[in-house]
Amino acid sequence: MPKVTINGKEVEVEPGTTIMLAAQKLGINIPHYCWHPDLSIAGNCRMCLVHVEKMPKLVTACSTPVADGMVVTTDSPQVKEGVRGVLELMLVNHPIDCPVCDQAGECGLQDYYMTYGLHDSHVSLEEKVRKRKVIDLGPMVVLDTERCILCSRCIRFQEEVSGARELQFFGRGDHVEIGTFQDRPLTDPYSGNVVDICPVGALTSKDFRFKMRVWFLKSNDSICPGCSTGCNLRVDHRNGIIYRLIPRRNVDVNASWLCDEGRMSFKSLGRGKRLVKTMVRQNGKGLVEVNRKDAYLEVVRNLENISNQRGPNSIAAIASAMATNETLYLFKRFMQEVVGSSLIDFRTDDSYKLVREREDKVLRRLDKHPNSQGALDLGLVSEELGGLAGAIEAAKAGKIRALVMLFIPQMVREESAQVYQAISELLTLVEFSAVLTTHEIEAFAGADVLLPVAAWSEEDGTYTNYDRRVQLLNRAILPPGDARAGWEVFATLARISGKDLGFEHAGDVFARLAAETPGYNGLTHAAVGKLGVKLQQKAIGGS
Ligand code: SF4
Ligand code: SF4
Ligand code: FES
Repeated sequence: MPKVTINGKEVEVEPGTTIMLAAQKLGINIPHYCWHPDLSIAGNCRMCLVHVEKMPKLVTACSTPVADGMVVTTDSPQVKEGVRGVLELMLVNHPIDCPVCDQAGECGLQDYYMTYGLHDSHVSLEEKVRKRKVIDLGPMVVLDTERCILCSRCIRFQEEVSGARELQFFGRGDHVEIGTFQDRPLTDPYSGNVVDICPVGALTSKDFRFKMRVWFLKSNDSICPGCSTGCNLRVDHRNGIIYRLIPRRNVDVNASWLCDEGRMSFKSLGRGKRLVKTMVRQNGKGLVEVNRKDAYLEVVRNLENISNQRGPNSIAAIASAMATNETLYLFKRFMQEVVGSSLIDFRTDDSYKLVREREDKVLRRLDKHPNSQGALDLGLVSEELGGLAGAIEAAKAGKIRALVMLFIPQMVREESAQVYQAISELLTLVEFSAVLTTHEIEAFAGADVLLPVAAWSEEDGTYTNYDRRVQLLNRAILPPGDARAGWEVFATLARISGKDLGFEHAGDVFARLAAETPGYNGLTHAAVGKLGVKLQQKAIGGS
C-alpha cells in the first residue's frame, strides 16, 4: 500500500486514495467546497490546492491520488497564497450580505475568509455582477443565486443520489446562475439535502431560515422516527424547542442524507394537542386531571381487581412500534411479571410486514414506524391475542376485560383512520383501559386512565432498524408536564404493584434487555455508540 507524507506525518493508504482522504486520515483538514464525501469528484472550485514535492504547480487534493513516497504540504506560504487567490476570485461578485444571510455561522465562505482570505476586495459593490435573490424553490428551499459559488454539489446530488435532475447551471461567464427551469419548484422528495450540502448561503431552508442563529443552538445525536430505515440525524434545539433536523453521516444507513418527510417529522409532535396531564375517568365527570401517583394507583388497583376476578389473561396489552426497545421491553416484563398475562402484541395493523420494503431507491421504506424490527425481536407478538384486530374479537367474546395500551402516533404521514377506529371500538368493549400516549386523541375518549409519555427526542433509548442495526437516540428536550419515558412509567407501575423491576436509567434497561434477547447479547448503550451496531443473528418477521 502506498505511503504518503503530509505536513511531515506519514500515513499508509489504499491505492487510489486521494490526497484529501489521506490527509483526513491524519486529521488534517484541507479546505474544500466542491468535494463531498458522498458525491463524485468535480474538482471545480480549486480551494483544495496543496503542494506536492517535485510537482511544478499546486495540485487539487480532492482529485489527485497519492503515490508511494509522495510528500505533500498543505500549509506552506505558497499553498496559503494559492488558496487565498482562489477565495478572492470566488468573492469577486459575492454580494457581501453576510449580516442578513441565514448561513452565517456555518458558511464555508465566511470560515475560509477568516483563515485564508482577510483581503480587501478590489471590486466595489457597484461593479459586482448582480443576480437574482430570494427565489422560492418549493416547500423546502429558498435560492439566492448571487451567493452561489458554482460548486455543483446540489446538481451532483440530484444527478447521483435522488435522481431528480432539477437544478442546473444557466447562462455563461460571470453571469452563470444556478436554478431550475423557469424557476419551477423542486419536487424532489430529498430536496432538503441540497441546503445541507450547499457550502454557502445560496440554498437555505425555507422552514429554518431566520428562526434562530445557529450559534445559539444545542445539538444531540438521534435517529429519525419517520420509517424503518432509521436514518442518523442531529437534533438542533434551544430552550426546549426543536428548530431543525440535520443528517448525520452513517455510510451504512443513510450516508449524508435525509428524506424531506423525515427531516420535517419533528413538526408532527405539534400536530394535535400534547397530552401533558394524567387523566382518570371519574363518575359522571368524564376524564379529569389527577396527580400522577393517583393515576398510577388507579391503574394498579383496577388491574389487580380484574385479575383477581377473571384471571390475569383477561388483561391484554397493545404496544407501539414507535416506542423504544427499552419501553417495549419493560412493557413486556410488566405484563408478564406484574400482571401475569402473556397477551401483549404490537401489531395495530399489517405495516410491520413492510419493515424491509423500500418506498424508493434512495432511503424511504414503507413501514413508517422506526422500531417494528425491535418489537419483533423482543417477541411482542401474541398469536393467542392476534394484534389489535384479535383483541377486539376477544373483547367481544368476553375473554378480555381490561386493556393496557401504549400508542404513539406515527410521525411521518397520518396514522390510518382504521387503526383509530379499531382503538376506539376496543376501548368501549373493555371494563377498564389505561392508555399511555403522547397526544390527546379523540380515539382515546373511551379510556379510563390516560398516562402521558415522552415522545421521540424526549427520551434516551434505542430503535432497531429494518437491517437489524440497533441505534441510539439521545434525549434532546424534556418531555412536557407529567409525561415520562414509557419505560419509566412501567417501572413505576411495577414498583407500586410491589414488584420493583430495579431500573433507574434507560441504559440499565437496555443492558438487561441485551442480556436476554437473542442477537443483542452483551450490548450496552456505550457499545451501540454513535453509528449503531448491526446484529448478526437472522432477522425475525417482516416480509
Ligand atoms: S447553490 Fe450551493 S451547492 Fe449549488 S452550486 Fe451553488 S454553491 Fe454549490
Ligand atoms: S428515509 Fe425514513 S428514516 Fe430516513 S429520513 Fe426519511 S423518514 Fe426518516
Ligand atoms: S474541493 Fe478540490 S477542487 Fe473543489
